[in-house]
Amino acid sequence: MEEVDAMRKRGVGVSLVGVIVISSILVPGGRARGEIFKRHPVLSQEAHASDVGAEVLRRGGNAIDAAVATAFALAVTLPEAGNLGGGGFIVAYLADQARIVTVDFRETAPRDSNPRMYLDGEGHLKANCRDGAWAAGVPGTVRGLGLAHSRGGKLPWAELVDPAVALAREGFAISDDLARSLNKELSPFRNDRANGLATNPTSDQGKLADFAESVAAFAKPDGSPWKGGDRLIQKDLGETLARIALNGPDEFYNGKTAQLIAAYMAGNHGRIRREDLAGYQAKIRQPVRTTFRGAEVFGMGPPSSGGIVLCEILNILERYDLKADGPRSARTLHRVTEAMRRAFYIRATKIADPDFVPVAAALLASKPYADTLAETITDRATPSARLAPFPIVSRESDHTTHLSTIDHSGNAVALTYTLEESYGAKCVVAGAGFLLNNEMGDFNLIPGRTDTGGRIGTPPNLIAPGKRMISSQSPTIVLKGGKVSLVTGSPGGRTIPNTTAWVVLNWLEFGLGPRATVDAPRTHHPWFPDRIVIERELDDDRVIEALKAMGHAIARSSSQGIANSIMVDPETGVRHGVADRRRSTSKASGD
Ligand code: DON
Repeated sequence: MEEVDAMRKRGVGVSLVGVIVISSILVPGGRARGEIFKRHPVLSQEAHASDVGAEVLRRGGNAIDAAVATAFALAVTLPEAGNLGGGGFIVAYLADQARIVTVDFRETAPRDSNPRMYLDGEGHLKANCRDGAWAAGVPGTVRGLGLAHSRGGKLPWAELVDPAVALAREGFAISDDLARSLNKELSPFRNDRANGLATNPTSDQGKLADFAESVAAFAKPDGSPWKGGDRLIQKDLGETLARIALNGPDEFYNGKTAQLIAAYMAGNHGRIRREDLAGYQAKIRQPVRTTFRGAEVFGMGPPSSGGIVLCEILNILERYDLKADGPRSARTLHRVTEAMRRAFYIRATKIADPDFVPVAAALLASKPYADTLAETITDRATPSARLAPFPIVSRESDHTTHLSTIDHSGNAVALTYTLEESYGAKCVVAGAGFLLNNEMGDFNLIPGRTDTGGRIGTPPNLIAPGKRMISSQSPTIVLKGGKVSLVTGSPGGRTIPNTTAWVVLNWLEFGLGPRATVDAPRTHHPWFPDRIVIERELDDDRVIEALKAMGHAIARSSSQGIANSIMVDPETGVRHGVADRRRSTSKASGD
């Protein structure tokens, strides 16, 4: 059933002409969410939030303002991933300076942390290590949005937070999707995380229902199940946002909100203290850059692996004429897989927080480096274990959100942020109304254990006080002739750089139109597990047999990523905001 739903959401099997028609049929009120041809679109995974961003642009705000306001709104309207209690990354193009700026607001490990903090005496992960206060890293979102605003925003800060305050205080009509998701989270029954794409393979999974504060924040006041169209009011969150609007980002780190977080931590075995919050810094980082078919591709540098992985994939693939074979041919899929496999091997062994581990980002993203990686590619699948000089043990989800916007002056923002898993650590900070992340799980939690199931125990990404955990988030901007050509990114854990790579390839290599660039089926190979995950739409027997004959194992997923993207027509300059229909709540807003 879920699969049928996902297929319906994606409009699988319809022609491109049909896609636009179907989008308008699916949206009550007849407004097509699928694609807009606008001067300044805002795309996010939730309709109210996209509308907030579009309104900010209408009032004369720029793309940074719109992105900040949309992110604050998502913290209210998309509680599974939008957040105050998480972290993420921004890649922005500032048109007047003709410059890419990237902001790192990744969470950090608290001072009271160590590499083995989630292990029992036998070296196994402790139960429930992914839920509750102790799973959280020090949140970076509010500082990150503040830093971006201080560097490039135009409108006053409070004007960007106020729409979120109103959405929280007055409530908003929830989608069917959010109703379903909240009902599942609030039900006391267990469900397992049977999802082949899970970022962190663990067996136990908590829910909002496990935490009294979360139930208080998200249960329907009369205790009945939520339905689409019901109003969700979040009173405490509204007050927190109002304090942030009034006092600025510092409120979260040194004000009443910081007190509430520290008190919640102290009462719930959490490790984040006032000093961790007061000391948190968002950082301007060097973007990672490469060229592909003459365009300039800018991605996020460490501690995200996203930009390096993306650049390596593109650099490896630039040597082949993929276009001649077409995006769905076995040879193209084989080559893309071999590029992903190698980029993810590098990710596991060489990328971590650059403030703790030297990361040669520019080298790793360079053409000569790709030449060395490509040397071992043949017309057969390379077993992943063959790439690693250390022992691989044979062995034993997906919720982040991305938004894209561009304004009338040509400034553009790609912003991805997350609580890590859906609803993060599942616990709401008492009195503050927002969920905490469980991002600590993006560190390598079992030192020394790298296995064929995808667990990575390599040294660079072990826990240390103040350190940022590796990420896969890949907000990306492509420039052509010095102008924005593509703004993209996606949720999806380790699938993110691969989803982004497909969007870039579809646009720059295969020359697909804007809608097809987002719709076209995607694949994922993360080094380990050693198999290609293909979206079902690619399930063509002849291609699958050809890939198997080359030595590839194949797994299927119903859907990969939610790449809400903007593409600019190279000839006319017309902007196409393309909402990814893999999640029906995605919306392109704007004039
Ligand atoms: O930063 C990361 O790479 C992950 N914490 C992102 C998690 C994610 O995307 C989950 N899903 N959609």
